Formats: sequence, C-alpha cells, structure tokens
Amino acid sequence: KKEYDYLIVGSGLFGCVFAHEAMKLGKKCLIIDKRNHVGGNVYCEKTEDINVHKYGAHIFHTNDKVIWDYVNSFVEFNRYTNSPMANYKGQLFNLPFNMNTFYQLWGVKTPQEAKNKIKSQIDQALITTPANLQEQAISLVGSDIYEKLIKGYTEKQWGRSAIDLPAFIIKRLPVRFTYDNNYFNDKYQGIPIGGYNKLIDGLLGNCEVRLETDYFNNRQQWNDRAEHTVFTGNIDQFYDYKFGKLEYRSLRFEHEIIDEENHQGNAVINYTERDIPYTRIIEHKHFEFGTQPKTIITKEFPEDWTPDKEAYYPINDKNNSEIFEKYKTLSKSEQHVIFGGRLANYQYYDMHQVIGAALKTVSTHFASLNAIPNPIS
Ligand code: FDA
Repeated sequence: KKEYDYLIVGSGLFGCVFAHEAMKLGKKCLIIDKRNHVGGNVYCEKTEDINVHKYGAHIFHTNDKVIWDYVNSFVEFNRYTNSPMANYKGQLFNLPFNMNTFYQLWGVKTPQEAKNKIKSQIDQALITTPANLQEQAISLVGSDIYEKLIKGYTEKQWGRSAIDLPAFIIKRLPVRFTYDNNYFNDKYQGIPIGGYNKLIDGLLGNCEVRLETDYFNNRQQWNDRAEHTVFTGNIDQFYDYKFGKLEYRSLRFEHEIIDEENHQGNAVINYTERDIPYTRIIEHKHFEFGTQPKTIITKEFPEDWTPDKEAYYPINDKNNSEIFEKYKTLSKSEQHVIFGGRLANYQYYDMHQVIGAALKTVSTHFASLNAIPNPIS
C-alpha cells in the first residue's frame, strides 16, 4: 500500500473540499501547491489589518441551501451585499441596471417611464439580427445604457472593440424595474467573517500540506507515493500540451495603501469608459465593514495572457473548446487521476459552483470505490 490514499495537486476550493471529505472517510491525503500559500484564488493577504483579496474581489453567493450551510459550518458569513457602482466620465450610476440607474440616466421615476425609454431606444436602433456584441447589447437595452455602462468596460475586459466581439458573449442583460441595488439574485450571499482563509483553514483541518511544490517538477515521485491523484492544475500541462495550449485572459492588480479611513465609500466601483485602463477599483475593507485607520485599494487591469501570468478567465471559443475536448477525452481513460476545478475543467466557476462540483466528484468517486460487484449477476 502506498504512503497516501490521495495526492491533491492544488489547494484551491476544489482541492480543499476534496481533502476534507476524503479525510472524513478516513483517507490519508497530502495537498501540494506551487504557490507559497493555500487557498488558490480565494486567498486573502492581511495588510494594515485588512483582508486583501489578492486574486480579485470574491463575493460568495448561492441559491443552494446545502452549499450555504456547508460553508457556514466552517466559518460564519457576514451580511455583505454586493452593490457595485459605475463611474462613467465622472458621473456615478448604480448597478445592476435598475430604477436608480434609470433615474440617474434619464430622470425617469416610474417603471413604465423607464420601460418606454428603453423600448424607444431599442426600436430606434432597427437591429433585427445582431451581428456583433455592440448590436446585441443595443438590441437588448438600447444605446444609452450600452454607451455609458457596457461598451468601454467590455472592450477593456476583452482587449477588443465591441464590433469585433461575437454577439453570443452577451446572452441576456438583466434590467430590474425596482429600486434594488443588490447585484445578485441569489438567496444567500456574504463574506466569511475574518476572510476566506478561515474557510480554507476549516476545510484543511490537520491535512498535510506542502507549499512551493510544483507537481510537474517531480511528477513520477508524487505518483509513486499515492494511490490516487486529484489534479486541479492546468489540464493542457498535464498532457504536455500535446494538443496545443489553452488560452486565457489575465488580470494585473495594482494595490495601494492610502492613509485615509474611507476612500471611495463602496467595495466595488467599475470604470466604464475605455480611456481609463483599469476596469474597477476595489476597496477591500468594505467587504467586512472595516473601520481601520488606513485603507487599501486595488485597481484591476485586464491583460492578454502569456504563460508567465496567472490564467484567470478561460476563452471558451471554438478553437479552445475543441482543444479542451481532446484533453477531456484523454482524461476519461485515467484510472487513478481525478480532474477537477477551474483549470482542469477549463471552465469559469463561481465559488459555490466549484464547491458543488467537488462534493459531487467526492460522492461519485467514493460510491464507485465502494461498489461491490453483485456475485449473482
Ligand atoms: P484555484 O485556482 O483557486 O486553485 C488551484 C490551485 O492549484 C492553485 O492554488 C494553484 O497554485 C495550484 N496549482 C496549479 N497547478 C499546480 C501544480 N502544477 N502544482 C502544484 N499546484 C498547482 N467566484 C465567486 O463565487 N464570487 C466572486 O466574486 C468571484 N470573483 C472572482 C474574481 C476573479 C478575478 C476570478 C478570476 C475568479 C473569481 N471567482 C469568484 C471564482 C473563484 O476564484 C473560483 O471559483 C475558485 O477559486 C476556483 O477554485 P479552484 O480550486 O478550481 O482553483
């Protein structure tokens, strides 16, 4: 019998949930991570007594009571409600698009007035079959909302002009005819009190962890030491890029400590004009209603991805999807490797989704291990 039942490559939410559940079943696990900390992209770094979301703002939200109860069993969540603002050329608007936004745009006060305004702009545009993202957005919400709140932001995110982006990127643009600035429609949302590291520490318990340890530096040695491997890294790298490299969009974060208690009055302010190179400014303390004497802000700059940068958003276009399908087919034939998480599945997951996926993987995997063949049939 090998030293470990499970070698888990990656200490993000997928790896930590898997480890927690496997340990509950008495399995011996080892987690390795190439970074110098656990938690993957939800990791928070404490600076000036403020939890800084090091890999971008993370707001937990879900409709699933089972997942909500699961995370709350490790750490209590606060009542943070995401209500981002948008700054377009110095003017402020509420998000998501709601009656406050429509009042700020046009001075309209009733839902009927807002609906009429949007409908007249959609009709004026005379778009029957949207040929690109710009036409798609205008045909859904009209030109004002598009020009002021969508165009520049989306162009910065993708690094391309909206007329060069495919229409399918935007399927729906929710508009709300109530004065409700709550960004998410989910039943449950919040931030762990004390930060995401508490959630990760609760999941890990006393699991053995090795940091600054890249699986690919000594792959054979790791495989030899464990019965199974749970792999949450990049699937193309696992197969030595034999079908090609999968592409991503990346982000660059500029953090700044400011000697002032409250800089922007909100956790998230989007900058929706194209000429400002960042898409948003995060003021971290507001996620936890902080009253520390100083504050920390982070500007988020979208970037093209190169292998030396963090791979943040998969580009699920035709070419990348075809490449991924080939890796996926290959991965299905592995007897002792379980693939999971955003990098191995080449998919954007919210936190509640990746936790759900990990719990599902755990239950199918352990059910298959325990499946005893029926001696009669
Ligand atoms: P994750 O990337 O967290 O973990 C993988 C780990 O594997 C990493 O620690 C990595 O170092 C390690 N690893 C990879 N290769 C390795 C190797 N070869 N050897 C050893 N270790 C290796 N969700 C949400 O619900 N609300 C939100 O507000 C946000 N916000 C948000 C902002 C931004 C900018 C991004 C990019 C994402 C979000 N998310 C989010 C999504 C959230 O970050 C995501 O669901 C989880 O972090 C995914 O967890 P994983 O375990 O899949 O990957």
